[in-house]
Amino acid sequence: MRDTASLDKILVLDFGAQYAHLICRRIRELGVYAELAPFNISPEEIRKRRAKGLIFSGGPKSVYFRGSPLPHRGIYALGLPILGICYGLQAIVHQNGGKVLRASKREFGKAPLSLKIDAPLFKGLGSTAVCWMSHGDAAESLPAGFESIASTENSPYAAISSGNILAVQFHPEVTHTENGMQMLSNFVFDICNSEKNWTTENMIEDAMLELERRIGPEDRVICALSGGLDSATTAELLQRVIGKRLYCVFVDHGLLRKGERAKIESAFRGKLGKNLIVVDESKIFLEKLKGIRDPEKKRQIVGREFIRTFSKVSKKLGNIKWLAQGTLYTDVIESAAGGSKHESKIKSHHNVGGLPKRLGFKLVEPLKDLYKDEVRKVASVLGLPIELVNTHPFPGPGLSVRIMGAVTKEKLEICRESSSIVEEELSSAGLYDSVWQAYGAVGDDLATGVLGDERRVGHIVIVRIVESREAMTADWSRVPFPILEKISSRITNEVPNVTWVTYAISSKPPSTIEPQ
Ligand code: XMP
Repeated sequence: MRDTASLDKILVLDFGAQYAHLICRRIRELGVYAELAPFNISPEEIRKRRAKGLIFSGGPKSVYFRGSPLPHRGIYALGLPILGICYGLQAIVHQNGGKVLRASKREFGKAPLSLKIDAPLFKGLGSTAVCWMSHGDAAESLPAGFESIASTENSPYAAISSGNILAVQFHPEVTHTENGMQMLSNFVFDICNSEKNWTTENMIEDAMLELERRIGPEDRVICALSGGLDSATTAELLQRVIGKRLYCVFVDHGLLRKGERAKIESAFRGKLGKNLIVVDESKIFLEKLKGIRDPEKKRQIVGREFIRTFSKVSKKLGNIKWLAQGTLYTDVIESAAGGSKHESKIKSHHNVGGLPKRLGFKLVEPLKDLYKDEVRKVASVLGLPIELVNTHPFPGPGLSVRIMGAVTKEKLEICRESSSIVEEELSSAGLYDSVWQAYGAVGDDLATGVLGDERRVGHIVIVRIVESREAMTADWSRVPFPILEKISSRITNEVPNVTWVTYAISSKPPSTIEPQ
């Protein structure tokens, strides 16, 4: 089997940005292996790791403050192509004799960009593009030998270059930047001369190699099956490596989608036989969640109860050493468990942030460097059923994060039924597979309606339908009005105690996909 250590690669130096890992993923998407490296990696280590080029990520600090992360100065003498992004641009300017200051006009959001069309970074692009900016500091003057190759109204140095050292103040890795992938592709192929040799099969080999390396020949593993694709893919990979030493546990926590438990039982029972264990713990989960309004607390409770259930089942089974989870990179990064102390926490994903310190199992998470769409590719190469490959992601804490305020039986029912209507209507319009997630959320606010001649007060369902590539950013879906109308009238007609239906038209950022 091939080992990533021997592959030519792009190293992404991590200065603490939310998007550092996303940059790696974008490069892998182009068919070139990329991995994260600490911002202060030594030049010798860079050479040892066979880097073809370096990318400096963004980051939340200011380069001019003492203690802010800066790369080893010897990096510039390596002669390798470098692309600085946002903070990465500022680090390059600061270390090479230019000046970075607090910007007089901060830029957040989309900005029109004027490009120097003969710059190699912009090959194949026109003279303008829209870019995504998110910065408070900016280059005030450039180091000797550097020139500006792009500008916005507020940033004369939106992109700069000097030979094979290039930098952009905007974020080419987020989908809001038009042609961002083309710019990354120009950097990786034309400027770094990388070869296109990273495939889904490589990802699978990599994951299986790692499982073989970690799990002993006698070890038994318990795998948390959630009903979604990530845990099913995790289980499939494990089964290929350890066979019957894998036990899959599906916990019904009472926060599942409509019909989910039955679907799992019918899909996995035949395949796993008695190694599929279904436990109904819904009463206990709902009891523990009673009256809890704080979203973080809800996540912590669900995480804790999951672990308690697994401990119980594994004690019964005896001699279980490992707990396998389908954690993805998005779960890790949003729980600020990505390894960089400069990242900030968005929310605790139950399978990451909610884990108690003393777990009692060793954790194995073979997908934790991948994003959802990469897992979809892995799952289809592994031959998992197409309905499972295309199923929408569903959060570990289940409907508890789609219910604002305390979880009650009534709100659970509203959430479950309205989500099922949203999914049904999208499916019959042929739109289910083209959106990322779609559901109905509910809170405690009530609104007035009329039924016949009578006034009645009921809940407000918030329909959320988003499009995304990997959940790091998302846009609300411009679903045709007649479909929204049908969804609304079905929800108010079919779901008890709902008087209003609204449609969420916020993107991520600044919102998140789940309301809690
Ligand atoms: P947000 O709401 O942070 O969600 O924009 C990003 C993606 O992650 C899913 N999500 C979770 N998945 N455990 C999970 O396994 C969690 O605690 C969790 N919270 C959010 C969410 O559904 C979306 O796809």
